[in-house]
Amino acid sequence: MELLEVIKTRRSIRSFLDKPVEDEKLNALLEAMQAAPSWANMQCWRFVVVKDKATREKLSDLSYVESFLAPRGYKTNPAQDGIAQAPVVIVACADPEKSGILWDQQYYMTDMGIATQNLMLAACDLGLGTVFVGVFDEILVRELLNIPPNIRVIGLFPVGYPAQDKKGGQKRNPLEEIVHYEKW
Ligand SMILES: Cc1cc2nc3c(=O)[nH]c(=O)nc-3n(C[C@H](O)[C@H](O)[C@H](O)COP(=O)(O)O)c2cc1C
Repeated sequence: MELLEVIKTRRSIRSFLDKPVEDEKLNALLEAMQAAPSWANMQCWRFVVVKDKATREKLSDLSYVESFLAPRGYKTNPAQDGIAQAPVVIVACADPEKSGILWDQQYYMTDMGIATQNLMLAACDLGLGTVFVGVFDEILVRELLNIPPNIRVIGLFPVGYPAQDKKGGQKRNPLEEIVHYEKW
């Protein structure tokens, strides 16, 4: 697919077929994240690739943060079932020490946003689906996966072949609302 077509048609996928992801495709996704630009090329990212079913099920449970989601009317994390269903979950982590801070802006989050967008676009290009799951219990995920305390867990990405047909048509605010020309 052309890059712009991938960008415009990618959607969050939360339901997956019972079909493994080939190692070549999984490696292509990891390489897509590795290729991302980062603050001073410091590459703060670290990834945990989880295939074990029992661990995926625990990650799925940990994506329901009741104190955050219940007051917003959610009885589950919308991606919860998908995390257990997908054959692979990529847990994206960052070492904040390996990025910059300027004017209070913590660039490790930016580095991770770029890397994980590469993951989501590459998945779409390869016929796979994924979703950025940013709501989860970070402390318990760290404990479950032996992630060191200085490392932040940024997102869970269930990856698999989509069991839902979603392409493009995302609701987005119009350009007139988000773009200023010459000055704000
Ligand atoms: C930082 C971030 C955190 C997100 N967290 C969740 C989440 O916890 N659960 C979920 O189902 N979707 C999550 N999403 C997916 C968004 O809901 C989704 O991207 C948005 O609704 C737009 O839909 P689209 O990705 O299909 O274009 C998250 C997305 C981002 C960028």
